Amino acid sequence: MRIGLVGSGGREHAIAKVLARNPARDSLYIFASHPNPGIEPLAATTETGDLHNTGSVVDFFLANHIDLVVVGPEAPLLAGVIDALRDRGILAVGPTQSQARIEGDKAFMRDLLQRRVGWGAPAWRVVQSRREGADFISEVGEVAVKPIGLTGGKGVNVMGVHLLTLDDALDQIEILIKKDRQVLLEERMVGEEFSRMVFVSDNNVIPMPVAQDFKYAYDGDHGGMTGGMGAYTCADGSLPFLLPDDLDNADRLIGETVDALAAETGEPYRGFLYGQFIATANGVRVIEFNARLGDPEAINMMALLEADAAHTFYQIANGELKQDQRFFSSLASVSKYLVPKGYPDDVGEPLKFNLDETSVLDAGLSIIYASVIGDHNGYQTMGSRTMALIGTGEEPGEVSSWMESLLLEIQPHGLRHRVDIGDARVIQSKLARMAQIRGIRSDDE
Ligand code: GLY
Repeated sequence: MRIGLVGSGGREHAIAKVLARNPARDSLYIFASHPNPGIEPLAATTETGDLHNTGSVVDFFLANHIDLVVVGPEAPLLAGVIDALRDRGILAVGPTQSQARIEGDKAFMRDLLQRRVGWGAPAWRVVQSRREGADFISEVGEVAVKPIGLTGGKGVNVMGVHLLTLDDALDQIEILIKKDRQVLLEERMVGEEFSRMVFVSDNNVIPMPVAQDFKYAYDGDHGGMTGGMGAYTCADGSLPFLLPDDLDNADRLIGETVDALAAETGEPYRGFLYGQFIATANGVRVIEFNARLGDPEAINMMALLEADAAHTFYQIANGELKQDQRFFSSLASVSKYLVPKGYPDDVGEPLKFNLDETSVLDAGLSIIYASVIGDHNGYQTMGSRTMALIGTGEEPGEVSSWMESLLLEIQPHGLRHRVDIGDARVIQSKLARMAQIRGIRSDDE
């Protein structure tokens, strides 16, 4: 099968790796914004271009007689690339442009869930003036201030965390209104966040292991918000701080949202859906939905995927995927991004570096390349998350420790990472924190 892949970040390298497991049967054609050093050796051909330009994407795949296209990032989904591919008879994994609004328009997402799902949301309001913002804050207390459109994970400001006074919050509201005419406010929620991603193939929703992404730049959740510094999963597919009800409710919310999207748009959903949730004292709440795989979470999921990726994605695109096999291994996983020292605020000049790839592989870990160019003779950072290490094992803490021992020796000068992702003590402290939030005694306190 000739398989097309759109995108060139870490998520797409992770997807390319599982698609390239059977090179005798499948060949990979990449439409990318830059040549990714990890994807290049796996690809038959790469075309670099503008991912928003659906015409160029479709022309490239038509010219190469592609059977199936997988789209990684959100921007081409929102530009309508899936609609354009299907119009030209190419099977594609991803939501249509109307369905991708679940990610691209947060007011649409909140309104859809209110009308068609009716539970699992914080108090929210879209406001168009400082005065309306002040009224909502006086009703619900502290809020999260969210731009309506895409933020790359970096645009949300929360009172009590980033906005320390009422005036800070109202000023931020005004800034976003000047830019977008409106802004989404949500009651501030306290708890532990988690990512539940699923394969959706019409009415069938196949869950992936639950992950926790570490969004802040530095250990202990300090510094600015990033695209995600890394993630861990546990061998049982859940996370220690989640109660069985939390996961059941997250899955019910995902199922009802899939139905809502299909009913709203009149089209079955065939792609990935990523629910970002928070477990609170009052149960699980939806933070947002994304119409794609998360990054870094996709790196963990693809490392755990046991099923044949090409076949799985083909069945998703055909509306035929069923929960008739085990898709993911029962192992834990940890991914950690290496980023330029000043990321995300001040990444400085491009940095040239070498990497001891043999030591990574000898340690049983894999490298995922992202915002970087070059090859094993020498790499150069491009400014965003440079590359990730991924490993699997019995416990996330064990994998995180192996990774730390290795990174002490081989981390290139000028790059840094978060040490605490997957660390056993950090996971225990999240469990204790969640127990305190729920008002129950934790055995581990
Ligand atoms: N993990 C954050 C994102 O993919 O948006």
